[in-house]
Amino acid sequence: MPTILDIRGVSKTYASGQRALSGISLTVERGEILALLGPNGAGKTTLIGIVCGIVRASAGTVAVDGHDIVRDYRASRSLIGLVPQELTTDAFESVWATVSFSRGLFGKAPDPVHIENTLRALSLWDKRDARIMTLSGGMKRRVMIAKALSHEPRLLFLDEPTAGVDVELRRDMWQLVRELRDTGVTVILTTHYIEEAEEMADRIGVMRKGELLLVERKVELMAKLGRKQLTLQLEQPLHRLPSALAAFAPALSADGLALTYTYDTRAHGSGMVAFLEALGAAGIAFKDLQTTQSSLEDIFVSLVQERA
Ligand SMILES: Nc1ncnc2c1ncn2[C@@H]1O[C@H](COP(=O)(O)OP(=O)(O)OP(=O)(O)O)[C@@H](O)[C@H]1O
Ligand SMILES: [Mg+2]
Repeated sequence: MPTILDIRGVSKTYASGQRALSGISLTVERGEILALLGPNGAGKTTLIGIVCGIVRASAGTVAVDGHDIVRDYRASRSLIGLVPQELTTDAFESVWATVSFSRGLFGKAPDPVHIENTLRALSLWDKRDARIMTLSGGMKRRVMIAKALSHEPRLLFLDEPTAGVDVELRRDMWQLVRELRDTGVTVILTTHYIEEAEEMADRIGVMRKGELLLVERKVELMAKLGRKQLTLQLEQPLHRLPSALAAFAPALSADGLALTYTYDTRAHGSGMVAFLEALGAAGIAFKDLQTTQSSLEDIFVSLVQERA
């Protein structure tokens, strides 16, 4: 897959002296959905601002589809759509006018069919003549997305697109993002809803204090950092742990009827098979078992805390 975004060694210190980014390098391939996670102030919006030419990097380079964002600003910017974290809309304009105008800003010829399709996809068609000030917050957010899509960008940034948005619109948005990806658009989104990243993203990047702690394919991240739990319902209550199981350090419930073994999917020599073998050797019978796997949320929380 060709690279659409190439960020190399980007740092940012604001005029206030606040260091917001420290040596970020990241490449994104065409057609990916990348979710950037990180606590407040991690630097997500600053990184997006740099790629979009709103914030000037203190060091490093960024290229969008091979166009340097400083030397070749217009070419790179015309490939980008941005839905900013803070809503800014022209209150008195109609939906249709503001979205059409936005396309014109990028020097693209008018294309009413594209604007209509975009508004329909965002369930804004019925509101096309409404002034933006008369729309609800969620609808305004959809207008921001329509604006960002008006010039047919190849790289779309959604900076917390679903903050304060209802469940239904959130699902619509996920659907829209998938459809965009299917047409070859690359999507980079930030979110504080981990389940959103889990649901949507091909790759996950975790930022903290201006650093990119990791970027990894979601499935690999979950396999690598995930922990699994195996819980057994025992036939007979167990009053204390047999020494043969001590190495596994399972937790025994108060009634002695449930045994829970937590293991790291990365570690060798642990795992479910070894535990079950040891259990069999110790003559402990069980009547049922369940396994659970840690969610991306568990992984995220442990990652961000681990480095605190
Ligand atoms: N214009 C600015 N001037 C000075 N400091 C800024 C400016 N914008 C952001 N910062 C600082 O840079 C750091 C990163 O902020 P940024 O907005 O990029 O974080 P974020 O990851 O997007 O956070 P959030 O999840 O809250 O949106 C913070 O310490 C913030 O206070
Ligand atoms: Mg932000």
